[in-house]
Amino acid sequence: MKHFYITTAIDYANGSLHIGHAYEKVLTDVIARYRRLMGDQVHYLTGLDEHGQKVQQKAASEGVEPQAFVDNVAVMFGELIEKLNISNDDFIRTTQPRHKRIVQHILQDLYDRGEIYQGEYKGYYSVRQEQFVAEKERNEDGSWPELYGEVVELVEKNYYFRLSKYQDWLIEFLQQNPDFVLPNFRQKQVLEFLKEPINDLCITRPKERLSWGIPMPFDEDYVTYVWFDALINYLSATGWPEEGWDRYWPADYHVIGKDILVPAHSIYWPIMLHAMQVPLPKHLLVHGWWLAQGGSKISKSAGNAVDPLDFIDEFSADAFRYFLTREMNVAQDSEYSRELFLARYNGDLGNNLGNLVSRLLNMAGKNCADGLPAATRNDEPEQNVKAHWEKTREEVLNFYEEFQFHLAMERVMSFCSTLNNYLELRQPWKLAKSDKPEDRETLNTSLAVVAEGLRLATVFLKPVMPTIADRIQELLGQPAIDTWEDRLDWGNRLEGQVLGAKTILFPRPQPPAES
Ligand code: ME8
Ligand code: MG
Repeated sequence: MKHFYITTAIDYANGSLHIGHAYEKVLTDVIARYRRLMGDQVHYLTGLDEHGQKVQQKAASEGVEPQAFVDNVAVMFGELIEKLNISNDDFIRTTQPRHKRIVQHILQDLYDRGEIYQGEYKGYYSVRQEQFVAEKERNEDGSWPELYGEVVELVEKNYYFRLSKYQDWLIEFLQQNPDFVLPNFRQKQVLEFLKEPINDLCITRPKERLSWGIPMPFDEDYVTYVWFDALINYLSATGWPEEGWDRYWPADYHVIGKDILVPAHSIYWPIMLHAMQVPLPKHLLVHGWWLAQGGSKISKSAGNAVDPLDFIDEFSADAFRYFLTREMNVAQDSEYSRELFLARYNGDLGNNLGNLVSRLLNMAGKNCADGLPAATRNDEPEQNVKAHWEKTREEVLNFYEEFQFHLAMERVMSFCSTLNNYLELRQPWKLAKSDKPEDRETLNTSLAVVAEGLRLATVFLKPVMPTIADRIQELLGQPAIDTWEDRLDWGNRLEGQVLGAKTILFPRPQPPAES
């Protein structure tokens, strides 16, 4: 069986979760579930990035120990993952011993082999912000911006990782592996960045400035720079270098947002692995940003974060997952607003899919309570529906393969529209009033055709709306979808099935209360 290892970025444990975090987990979940349905042995890793200055400051501002603070955040993110119905196989936290041990092992190994050296850094340092500030940050009159408080010149000893010596190797690697970064235009951005010389990477912080990090194994006065620590999570979760680690490694996809491609994932990480003599991941899959309507990035610091948990509580995890998947083209940015969500919810889910289900169950309950009849007619309308299914099937499989999930969903919904239109054409509700045998035959055929079409359409919805897809299968008398292998052929497996009672899958949202 083919192993398929997929990861998300690990979220900073210094803030609340927002739609960007939720999206990345859902996107990765859609891929993971799709690969499982195609027969792969999937290993899906997500987790939390718990060290660093921001976490230390946040914990201090709340008057708690950093570990207690991140323990709390981990509970919150665990809740999000559960509510979003994410099917991850592992959840890594960078404060776990299994991770810290590996980071230290790697640091020692790289140090022993001369890939890490001690150097001096001289620069301007903001005492208030506890960080180095660049010359270009100065005001026009030469003073420093107010927020930095007192700025002093500081010489600091640190340890550096020999990034620069591998620049040519990396450029060649990227040229030989044009699909390392997907979508391709993002790989071009990496190569563009590599046109300028890169510097060695400072991978330590003196303990007197920052204590919340993984201690350097060969110098107790320092902790590890948070990115060097965080990137290793993808490898430490495999158990490397212990027996069995290569069951999953190399990772098939690291799913990340566009802001952390350069330099972290496309420069530091490949070079770290190369220096460690560990094979590189096969691909980085880079998604765009969710923007608040009007175009600003949604983030904690911008104060426009949407709490996905509220959203799931009001509607459902499936509806939210559908919105995220249908609305976002992975290659681009996408806008978010309640109006945009409601347009999808009411349109695609309520009026199209939901309406189709309730019409079918209603008509079947009234006309074939003993079991679904056979489709004995095969006239032009029926042939058109089947032809549309064949086209949909081919296109949707391709779109799943190419990470074009928004188009996959568009095609599935378009096929549902075809089924609704077919019902309008056949008008089984009118035929039910007729005594003519040919009308009865058309009625029976139309219900059988719509039921079969709905069965097939929802098989394709399973990675995105796992609960709804299986609920619809159940209403059609079918087992839960655990493979796509034999579930996508047009056939007559519903013949004789007693369908479930009419239900409303996507209730109308409550209008906002009058204030
Ligand atoms: O960057 N839209 O963590 P993070 C889409 N700890 N994606 C978004 C987004 C938005 N508005 N905002 C954030 C970190 N993301 C590091 C990662 S990995 C070894 C360490 C994405 O919490 C972002 O692009 O700031 C990233 O992939 C993920 O959420 C976590 O962001
Ligand atoms: Mg960020």
